[in-house]
Amino acid sequence: MHRPFLRHTALALLLACGLARAAERPAFGVIADIQYGDKEGSVSRDYRGSLERLDRCVDTLNGQRLAFVIQLGDLIDGYPTNRPASEADLDRALGRLSRLKAPIRHVVGNHCLNAGAHALTRKLGLERFFYTFTEPAAPGWRFVVLDGNDAGYGVISEAQLAWFGETLARAQQAGERVLCFCHFPLLKTAAEHHRMAKPEAVLALLDAHPCVAGWFAGHEHTGGYARQRHVHHLTLRGLVEAPGSTAFARFELADDRILETGFGNEPSRELFLGGAAAPRTRRLSFENGRVWPDDRSVHINAHGGGLLHHDGAYYWYGEHKIAGKAGNVAHVGVQVYRSHDLYNWTNEGVALAVSEDPASDIAKTCVLERPKVLHNAQTGKFVMWFHLELKGQGYRAARSGVAVADRPAGPFTFLRSLRPNAGVWPRNVTAEQQALTPADLDRLKGLTFSGGPNEETPKHNLLARDFAGGQMARDMTLFQDDDGKAYHIYSSEENSTLHIALLSDDYLSHAGPYVRVFENRWHEAPALCKRGGRYYLLASGCTGWAPNAARAAVAPSIWGPWTELGNPCVGVNPLNRLGPEKTFGAQSTFILPVAGRPDAAIALFDLWRPDNAIDGRYVWLPLRFTDEGFTVVWRDTWDLGVFDAPQP
Ligand code: DGJ
Repeated sequence: MHRPFLRHTALALLLACGLARAAERPAFGVIADIQYGDKEGSVSRDYRGSLERLDRCVDTLNGQRLAFVIQLGDLIDGYPTNRPASEADLDRALGRLSRLKAPIRHVVGNHCLNAGAHALTRKLGLERFFYTFTEPAAPGWRFVVLDGNDAGYGVISEAQLAWFGETLARAQQAGERVLCFCHFPLLKTAAEHHRMAKPEAVLALLDAHPCVAGWFAGHEHTGGYARQRHVHHLTLRGLVEAPGSTAFARFELADDRILETGFGNEPSRELFLGGAAAPRTRRLSFENGRVWPDDRSVHINAHGGGLLHHDGAYYWYGEHKIAGKAGNVAHVGVQVYRSHDLYNWTNEGVALAVSEDPASDIAKTCVLERPKVLHNAQTGKFVMWFHLELKGQGYRAARSGVAVADRPAGPFTFLRSLRPNAGVWPRNVTAEQQALTPADLDRLKGLTFSGGPNEETPKHNLLARDFAGGQMARDMTLFQDDDGKAYHIYSSEENSTLHIALLSDDYLSHAGPYVRVFENRWHEAPALCKRGGRYYLLASGCTGWAPNAARAAVAPSIWGPWTELGNPCVGVNPLNRLGPEKTFGAQSTFILPVAGRPDAAIALFDLWRPDNAIDGRYVWLPLRFTDEGFTVVWRDTWDLGVFDAPQP
C-alpha cells in the first residue's frame, strides 16, 4: 500500500477513535436563574422574556446528548405575598422545561420559595431540597444538590451540613468524583456581590474532600469563576438577565478535565481536574468588564494597552497600576503579557521600568500612559512610544517617550522624551497660523488652558505657540501601515486637535510630515486600523477618567480627508447598565487586527477605576466593518468564532 495513504488511513482511524471517545463523554446541561415571572421587568432583568429564552435554550439542549439538565434555582421570580400567582408562574416555567428530552434536576433558590415549600415539593417532584444522584451515563461521578435556604436565606442547616459531610465521605471512600449544585456561590472571587451567608463550614467540607471537583451556583446573575484548591467554583450567568441573548452551558466530563461550552452570555472554559497541581483553567472566550486573571491568577495589569503580534505570539503592553488613587501615576512602568490565543495571558513582567532616579524623565510617579509597541523590520528592534507627564507636574508636560528593545518582552531601554515636531509646520498649516507675531506669542505663553472642551481654547493659535518647542502630545497610539511606515497619532493643542505624524524609518523619531485633524473636536484615546485601503479611527471625547460617547471616522489616506461617522457602539453593558452614550463605561485604547483572519479586528477599551486604578477592567469587542464604516456591538461573552459567522 502507498505509504502516505497508510499514514492518512491511520490518522483517520485515530481521529475517528478520538471523536468517538469524545462523543461518548458524559455531558449535562445547566441553566441558572431563569426567574420567570408574568410581570414587567427592567431593561436588563426581563422576567417575562425568560420563558421565550427558556424555549430556545430547551431547543438547543434537545439537540445534544445529555445525561441530565439541571436548573440552579430561582426558576421563578415569584411574589412574596401571592402564592397562587407564584405557583402559576412555576407551572408555566415547568411546562416549558418538560419539553426537555434529558431528565431535569432542580435546585431550589430563594425566589422559588415564593411558591411555598409544599407546592415546590409536589411540583418539582422532590422529597427534600437536598439530595444526591448518579447517572449511568456518567460512571464514577456523583452529583450533590444542596438547599441553600433550609435554615434561612442563604443559610444551610446543621442537619444538612452533617448529611453533606457524610455524602462526601462516602463518595471519597468509593473513589467517586463529585459535583455540587447549590443556588448560592461560596466565594467572593466567584461572585462579587451575592453569596451564601456563612460559607465557611461548607468550604471546610470541600477542602477536606479531594473528590469534589466543582461547585456550581447561580444567584449572582453576572456570573463568575474561581478555583480554590481542588474545587472549581462556577457561578453561572442568569437567563433572566440575558435579554436579546441567552445564558446556559453544556458541561462535558472527560477524565482529566471538564469542558464548559457556554451559550450566549455564558463563557466557555476548560476546567482541569487533578487537584491543586492541575493546569490552570483555560479560558475559551472573552468576558468583558470582569476580572481577567493571568497565568498567576492575578487580574491583568496592562491598562491603556496596545498589542503586538510577533512570531506567532501576541504581546499585550499596558500601564502597570497599583491600588488606590495612587495607581494613577506610574510606580512600576509598562507591564507585558504574552498569549497565543488572546484569551489566556502569561505575565512576562515589566517591559519598561520607571526610574528610581528622580532626575530621570521617567522617574517613579511620573505619568506614563498608553504605551504602544511596533516591530521595526529594518532594524529588528521593538520600539515603544508612550504618553509621558513629568513627575509632579500633573498633565502639563504633554510629552512623548520612546524606548527600544531587542526582544518583544523587553527589557526596553528608555531613549528620550520629547514634544513632537519641534520647528515643523503641519502639511495643512494655514498662513494665518504661521503669522503669529512675537508679541502675540509672548501673550499666549502666559495663558493657561483647561485641557478639556471649552470655547476659549479654539480662539488661540496653539500650534504656533508650540512650534518652536514641539507640539503637545497626550493620548496617543501608533499605527503601522502595509508599507512598513509608522505613524504617531496624538491629542495635541491642549487636547483640542489630533495630530497624525509620520515616524522616521527606524521609528525612533518624527520624520517631519504631519497633519492636524478633527480640529477642536477634543478627541482622546485614538485607535487606528486599515481595511480595503481605507483608514478607520476609533476615539473618545475628552472627559478625564469619566466615560463619554465613542467616535469613529474614515479616510481614504492616513493624511485625510477624515470623515466623522458618529458613535459606532451598540448595546448595553449589563454590569453598569451603560450603553453607547458612555461607551459601555469604557474608553478606547487600541484596534487589534486578528492574525490570520482578514477583516477580523478587535476594539479594545479600558473601563477605568480611578479610585482603585489597579482594578480597571477591560472590554474587548469584535469590530465589524460595514459599507459606511464599522460597528462595535456589546457582547458580554464571545470568542473568535464570531468572525466565522456572517456579519449580522
Ligand atoms: C483620559 C485619557 O484618555 C487617559 O489616558 C488619561 O490620560 C485620563 N484622561 C486622565 O484623566
